[in-house]
Amino acid sequence: MRALVLSGGTGSRLRPITYTSAKQLVPIANKPILFYGLESIARCGIREVGVVVGDTAAEVMSSLGDGSSFGLNITYIPQDKPKGLAHAVLIAKTFLGDDDFVMYLGDNFILQGIEDFVEGFQRSAGNINAQILLAKVSDPERFGVAVLGDDGSVLRLVEKPKVPPSDLALVGVYIFDREIHRAVNAIKPSARDELEITDAIDWLIDDGLRVKSSIVEGYWKDLGEPEALLEGNRLALELLSGEILGDVSIDSSVQGRVNIEAGAKVIGSVIRGPVIVGANAKVINSFIGPYTSIGPNCVVENSEIDYSIILKDAVVKDVGRLEGSIVGKGATVLRRESKPSALRLIVGDNSRVELS
Ligand code: G1P
Repeated sequence: MRALVLSGGTGSRLRPITYTSAKQLVPIANKPILFYGLESIARCGIREVGVVVGDTAAEVMSSLGDGSSFGLNITYIPQDKPKGLAHAVLIAKTFLGDDDFVMYLGDNFILQGIEDFVEGFQRSAGNINAQILLAKVSDPERFGVAVLGDDGSVLRLVEKPKVPPSDLALVGVYIFDREIHRAVNAIKPSARDELEITDAIDWLIDDGLRVKSSIVEGYWKDLGEPEALLEGNRLALELLSGEILGDVSIDSSVQGRVNIEAGAKVIGSVIRGPVIVGANAKVINSFIGPYTSIGPNCVVENSEIDYSIILKDAVVKDVGRLEGSIVGKGATVLRRESKPSALRLIVGDNSRVELS
């Protein structure tokens, strides 16, 4: 079995963070979202992985390299425009050949990984042509939506319907056999001018092929927007090993599951896990509350931060309490003591600032 990982797209709902980072590379618990997927693919015993890249190709390629650090062999497949998930399958045909493959959308975070899903397909090898994963959601209009028959069989799929026929969203992980290539060649672009994978799967169903579904066990989220990213971060932090490699001064207190990476310094501070403090970061006279990731080389001083993501090289100083916040790479948030006592903001395009 091979894997096809999609890592293109613009990440518009995560701006401004995605102006300088591919959305799949935004870290949760200090690790890029995409790495969780690739690690799970490697645990499935898959070696050959095609990564479809778009405008952010250079960044994705420099961060994944040849895949050897994951135990994978990566082939990059450039897509000139985001023309749809079925288009990605179309351009990956040479790489995929006639092998079965798992298609994984790089901004999806599945806490428990995809091993059970892949094993399930392999157990029924030869009996099913496609396997999809579904999750009950409260906002199905944002997703591909499945309609199931009384016996649980998949009757049809609709992409982002205005009036959703069910609350079962398509999770961004699919397994296909070679039949999908006939489907992606047969379908026509949708109203939004994309070749939709939902249409290709519908084509398989209409052609009498076997499409099976299962409901995702545990936690799944597409981390395409800030609230989801914070929640994904919270859950990824639950996976921490709880390892203190950096220095913690004796007047500091570290409570619960906390990773302090090498070279980090915690001075006169309280860290209440789950929290990760990245390599060479400094936390001085501060409180870092539950569910917070402090990136490498950050400086946090005289501040309280909880349920937040602070990306690498950022500085947070004298700010009182930050909560539910995402601070971008190299950003500075500080209090100025000089008069006039006005707010002074240099806020990037599409940023959001909420004052209490
Ligand atoms: C894509 C798929 C959609 C699926 C979703 C899962 O949507 O088109 O069917 O439910 O991923 O993340 P997108 O995130 O590209 O809007």
